[in-house]
Amino acid sequence: MFTSLTRQVASRAVSRRFLATSAFPAPRLFDYETVTSNLTVTDALESVEAAFAALAQGKVEVPMPMHIGIEETSEAGPGDCHIKGGYQAGTKTFTVKLACVSFYKNVEKGLPPGSGVFVVVDAVTGAPLAVMQENRFMTDLRTGAAGGISLKYTTDASQPLPVGFIGCGAIARNMARAAAAVRPDMTGFAYAVAGAEEFATEMSAELGVPFEVVASADELCAKSKCIYTQTPGSSTVLELGMLQPGTTIIASGSDQPSKQEIPNDVLAASKYISDLTKQTSKVGELRGALEAGAMTEADVYAELGQVVNGDKPGREGDELIVVDLTGTGAQDAAIGQVAWDKLSKL
Ligand SMILES: NC(=O)c1ccc[n+]([C@@H]2O[C@H](COP(=O)([O-])OP(=O)(O)OC[C@H]3O[C@@H](n4cnc5c(N)ncnc54)[C@H](O)[C@@H]3O)[C@@H](O)[C@H]2O)c1
Repeated sequence: MFTSLTRQVASRAVSRRFLATSAFPAPRLFDYETVTSNLTVTDALESVEAAFAALAQGKVEVPMPMHIGIEETSEAGPGDCHIKGGYQAGTKTFTVKLACVSFYKNVEKGLPPGSGVFVVVDAVTGAPLAVMQENRFMTDLRTGAAGGISLKYTTDASQPLPVGFIGCGAIARNMARAAAAVRPDMTGFAYAVAGAEEFATEMSAELGVPFEVVASADELCAKSKCIYTQTPGSSTVLELGMLQPGTTIIASGSDQPSKQEIPNDVLAASKYISDLTKQTSKVGELRGALEAGAMTEADVYAELGQVVNGDKPGREGDELIVVDLTGTGAQDAAIGQVAWDKLSKL
């Protein structure tokens, strides 16, 4: 039974809770137009590079991604919701994002199959500051930035850089934008089951970089020193014998345990760099090589942040390098912070 003293204490606690919670302003809501018109490739490159550096120093809290499958019934679905997030020590915010994909029935209603928001939270008070409707724009920007940073550290800056793109969809466009920001002198090659012509035309016009469509992955590999792969990962997209000495492969299509773009013998022959080994071993290219016994985790040369920090050299000579990008919460935290820095001033 409550005594009057315990009742008073409980009541004071309740009123303190009430006052404290009502004191938080509502999170600001930024719509898609505002988000997309205020964030640039350069914002993403700078913030994501710093995030990888911090990640390798153990300064980013990155939980494993969460997945909610929405089963198809008469009431809902089909669809998938992926939840990622992170906090970089010393920054003022942390970020949680919801990426909703594969809601294929939307298409029948004239809606896209995917949408998404970033929730940026005050790291001092824990109160949400903003909900950003980005519908994958911020995810694509931070994914492209990881590709640009990978290129920067694993290719020879003193040599001409022909860059091939296998898979020419949304991620390829973001990879191309970041690659051209890092190496404006690059030349591009494009190969895809569908969309290579459109990609090459659009990217040439947008980036002022020449792009050529090629007829096969074989031809693309013969012409490229750096190869970005960003297909749905339902089958491998190149072979070891197709590659020139000194090639860098930046693979980002595999972000689920069912996907693989790069054959195990290519991975095993490479200086293999992960964005985050605890993730690539579960959902990246590394997973398949581990399962097949072609590699062990001891064969991982480095995480990308270690190369960014100079703890391990990137390109040294004519070695084959594979960078396995699965997309980390550190990148989401970084782009969330830079977005808040810019949008909160509007
Ligand atoms: N790593 C990350 O951080 C990250 C982030 C977002 C998306 N993704 C993944 O990237 C992949 C691509 O996403 P997207 O949105 O660009 O897809 P998309 O559908 O827009 O484009 C896919 C492209 O790949 C081509 N393609 C398919 N199979 C091919 C094959 N065997 N050989 C050559 N080309 C082929 C298609 O014709 C198309 O041009 C997906 O698997 C997605 O889940 C990864």
